[in-house]
Amino acid sequence: MNSFVNWLDHRTGFRQLLHEALYERVPGGARWRYVWGSTLVFTFVIQAISGLMLWTAYSPSTRTAWESVFYIQHEMYLGSVVRGIHHFAAQAMVELMAIHLVQVIIDGAYRAPREVNFWLGIILMQIVLGLSLTGYLLPWDQKGYYATQVTTNIMSATTVVGPQVQVLAQGGTSYGHLTLTRFFAMHAGILPALLIGFLALHICMFRRHGLTVHDPAYAPDTWFWPDQVLRDAIACLAVLAVVLLLAVFRGAELSAPADPATMFDAARPEWYFLFLFRFLKFHAVESLGLAVAAIIIPGILMGILTVMPLTASILGAAGHSLNKAFTWIMTIGIVGLTGLAMYEDATDTDHQAALAEAHRDAGRARELASGPDKIPVEGAASLLRQDPFTQGPRLFARHCSSCHRYQGHDGRGSLVTEFSDAAGKQTSAIVAPTAVDLSGFGSREWMRSVVVDYRGHFAWLKNAGWYQQAREKQAAGEAVSLIDPDNSEMADWSGDAAAVSSPENAENLTALVEFLAAEAGHGGIGIDQALAEKGRSVALNGTWAGGAAGTSCASCHSTLGNAFTPVSDDAADGYPTLAGYASAAWLRDFIRHPNAKRHYGSKNQMPEYSPQQLSDPELDLLVRWMTHDYAPTTVAEYADRLELIRAAIPTAPAPEPTSQPK
Ligand code: HEC
Ligand code: HEC
Repeated sequence: MNSFVNWLDHRTGFRQLLHEALYERVPGGARWRYVWGSTLVFTFVIQAISGLMLWTAYSPSTRTAWESVFYIQHEMYLGSVVRGIHHFAAQAMVELMAIHLVQVIIDGAYRAPREVNFWLGIILMQIVLGLSLTGYLLPWDQKGYYATQVTTNIMSATTVVGPQVQVLAQGGTSYGHLTLTRFFAMHAGILPALLIGFLALHICMFRRHGLTVHDPAYAPDTWFWPDQVLRDAIACLAVLAVVLLLAVFRGAELSAPADPATMFDAARPEWYFLFLFRFLKFHAVESLGLAVAAIIIPGILMGILTVMPLTASILGAAGHSLNKAFTWIMTIGIVGLTGLAMYEDATDTDHQAALAEAHRDAGRARELASGPDKIPVEGAASLLRQDPFTQGPRLFARHCSSCHRYQGHDGRGSLVTEFSDAAGKQTSAIVAPTAVDLSGFGSREWMRSVVVDYRGHFAWLKNAGWYQQAREKQAAGEAVSLIDPDNSEMADWSGDAAAVSSPENAENLTALVEFLAAEAGHGGIGIDQALAEKGRSVALNGTWAGGAAGTSCASCHSTLGNAFTPVSDDAADGYPTLAGYASAAWLRDFIRHPNAKRHYGSKNQMPEYSPQQLSDPELDLLVRWMTHDYAPTTVAEYADRLELIRAAIPTAPAPEPTSQPK
């Protein structure tokens, strides 16, 4: 062994090299405050290794990027840990860099003769920021896609060259395949190569000038090895431990596959860019225009940072104090703005709803991609595009939520609010629904409620303007045709509910409800066939116990019990058709023609949705969502928001007292 080492040393002179590397003098003793540079080099090594590992499975194209990251995250052995390490070590690097910079300035380590090394450090900082920016896009998920677009748009605001730079970086005028390949080339090729080059220079230069000693009298001088190396190693291990814990227990997020057609309202840059994002939102800053606010002002601040060595050499001690003051002000400003941005996001209900939806989409994408059908060749984005569970709520929010609600919200987890700018005072108030909440549509609860509490069930309609007007006309003696939850044959029939819901009819009612739910046939509810069969008899023949509620449903709704067919106005019986009530076929027809005589006829108040407004594929997605006809899911439906939403929605108008005694 010894002779081998001697042989090697003779050929390479490594002993001498090692000695030079390790026996650097540390005046004033080893100190914790010197560890930051080493931790940065260490995180870079982690990034290089984990990055190469990710590279073995990553495939940069718009149809495979998300898909390959999905594979890494959910199928590759330890893939999620490697990705987590890469994700959190990147963040650690930015943080350590900031600490390192502040430390260098406070200790005056930028002053002569170390100016050039300070500038090298600033270049390194830009490279690292470039790495994290380009890396954010690579998973090609909604989050990265939309957040990175914000950045490249800012880039385009640069005077003269902006648009060209943007086109160059994006590989065209819009985001696409070339954007991804270019960002990947930057992220895994150009920037790391530059980083290694500049890092080597930075370290050589550092060795040339040695440590900037904070306090030579702190302790007796020592050597780099082993005292300082030990401290550095412990610091690096601590960084590694934090990164590992985060990687294992928190993990890196993968949001839904990028889809240019689906706006992503929750887009935010990585948290360490939040301060800039927040800065740009100040009205005073906004009014300066993007070029000034996002390029020139940060450019000036960068400039002040860059000339710090000159400031200090020209102004001496005063210059150094000035530099330190600037650093502290910047630090406080950045921390403050980051905190402000986070606080605002946390209290912004719209943003919270957008986040909840983003989680819902991410969970659903993951569920579908690992489901029996896997990811189709067109790419994972099509999974969500064709998924009723994902698209239904969006269609509902766009077309139906102005009158209806879904579990109290607009379908997408937001309260429906109205913005008013009365007398210069801006207020936003919660709007009361003017039609029934459709979340339980076609369920047993829905059917039971229609039968025993028609007045209460449809009471929301009374909030509508048309209802108030019709009632006024009625009061003036005019005959108007309207749906009146308090006053119709159905309301009267349901007014007899005391008999229907009497204990002796309990089983008949349950059977009827089972029958109606079976006719609706929504996905995911198992039907008790025998009970439903009994319910059919109750519905069609009115076989109630005690004869109290003598009539059958079919005595008015003559179509009940048949399969749904869109009978013509001539053939309609004048009562809403209950053939296949609440089934997909019924619902499709109802949304297209609520005004047909087989539905509400002249009483109808709901808009008819023509294929121009709601295309056939859209109608299909909406109806399949409302009838629960989609791959089963375990994704939570805005669960954590429902309580807040319920507390905020107004209560339904009270039914008028019935004239008939119950
Ligand atoms: C302008 C308000 C308004 C909009 C928008 C609206 N509806 Fe309605 N909807 C009503 C009213 C009012 C009723 C009560 C019956 C009627 O007028 O036809 C109703 C009834 C319904 C019913 C029947 C409930 C029942 O069993 O009686 C369904 C289902 C329904 N709407 C679905 C939708 C869907 C789906 C959309 C969106 C594509 C939508 N509605 C948009 C006002 C609206
Ligand atoms: C006396 C006649 C009559 C009887 C009996 C009757 N209904 Fe109705 N039903 C109506 C009328 C009329 C309406 C329309 C309400 C309106 O115009 O205000 C209606 C509306 C409905 C609706 C809403 C339909 C839609 O298109 O959204 C449902 C559901 C319904 N009835 C179910 C039943 C069930 C179930 C029974 C038996 C338990 C029943 N009805 C018994 C007359 C009746």
